[in-house]
Amino acid sequence: MSVECFVTGGTGFIGQHLVAYLSAKGHTIRVLMRRPERLAALREQINNLGGCASRVFAVAGDLERDNLGLSLADREVLRHVGVVFHLGAHFAWGLSVEHSRAVNVEGAKRVALLAAEQKSRLVMLGGYMLKNQEHLQRIGIDPRCPELTNWLTVYQHVGAYEGSKLEAHFAVLELMSAKGGEMTIVHPATVCGHSRTGHILDGQPLVELIRNLVQGKLTAVPGTAEHWLPLVTVDHLVELVAACAFDPAMGRQELLALDDQTPHLQELLVQVAQPLGLKAPKHHIPLRLLKLLLSIPPIARFFNTDAEALDFIQTTRFDTAAAEQFANRHGIAKPDIRQSLQHTARFVNSYCMAKAC
Ligand SMILES: NC(=O)c1ccc[n+]([C@@H]2O[C@H](COP(=O)([O-])OP(=O)(O)OC[C@H]3O[C@@H](n4cnc5c(N)ncnc54)[C@H](OP(=O)(O)O)[C@@H]3O)[C@@H](O)[C@H]2O)c1
Repeated sequence: MSVECFVTGGTGFIGQHLVAYLSAKGHTIRVLMRRPERLAALREQINNLGGCASRVFAVAGDLERDNLGLSLADREVLRHVGVVFHLGAHFAWGLSVEHSRAVNVEGAKRVALLAAEQKSRLVMLGGYMLKNQEHLQRIGIDPRCPELTNWLTVYQHVGAYEGSKLEAHFAVLELMSAKGGEMTIVHPATVCGHSRTGHILDGQPLVELIRNLVQGKLTAVPGTAEHWLPLVTVDHLVELVAACAFDPAMGRQELLALDDQTPHLQELLVQVAQPLGLKAPKHHIPLRLLKLLLSIPPIARFFNTDAEALDFIQTTRFDTAAAEQFANRHGIAKPDIRQSLQHTARFVNSYCMAKAC
């Protein structure tokens, strides 16, 4: 059955793969685009990723604008949409609180309102730190009463991007509960390139990590031997997201998309270094010391690393049993994360070193 879908963030890394996957399955995809004149380039990319470009259409708009900046005609077209996928966000370090809130929090609420008003299913991407209870507690969020959160303090602790993602999550939950809307939230770990091609886009945290390794800027492993950076491959994530959208049992559910076979950070760096003929660092640098060093701007610039990125490197393990059951129920196989890392390293080395990939 072909379903009309509306995707925000469809021009981004995960979004391109989602649009390719959904269009290949025969669905019609309307992508919110700030620059709709780039539709031809997006369609070309969708074909390259195995999708069906002729089923992809642009909807001019912006998460920052009232009613998403939609024209009346587009608003009418979107009434036929069965599923709204909200992936759009400004994903970067060093954002201002005002800007990240305007795009990531208010934008998410606008998308949720649209979905609720027209009774479309909403599938939204959160982030896996929302499943790290100790972390939430440490930064002053009690998920049972998020209304008591001092958000500005949270933003100070974790940076504006992550703060706005956390705030957006609770704001959308509240909105959808008030409106009686149907929604599923998928919480991805840091996203790795495609498990077979290694395809990834510039700006992704893993690209920065690999680039730093290649350029000799990663001379010590952040954290201890127990630290890891949980990953999920983009193709596995997209399959999970799509399955959530069409599974009636997933209404009002959350799903953690995280591969618990992701190796510790030191071993992850070995996997990335090996296919490139490089040596991975062996010695560790404590995260606190690294954060302190990165608070000095010239050092942060030289090492091309931002302290905001370090919170994702942790020792916490996550319960992935429910997600694994869900994947099994839908016949979704989990790719080998070590091989996926090697493919991603080769892709980054071939396409992302000199120019944007
Ligand atoms: N990648 C990860 O490791 C990861 C992990 C956990 C969660 N997530 C979440 O997954 C989602 C997608 O991430 P991604 O890695 O695919 O991000 P991405 O590659 O940076 O893409 C971001 C997308 O959002 C769009 N966007 C940004 N500002 C917008 C605005 N004002 N109005 C309309 N669209 C706007 C961008 O459109 P333009 O082309 O116009 O810039 C782009 O399509 C985000 O919600 C992110 O927080 C990502």
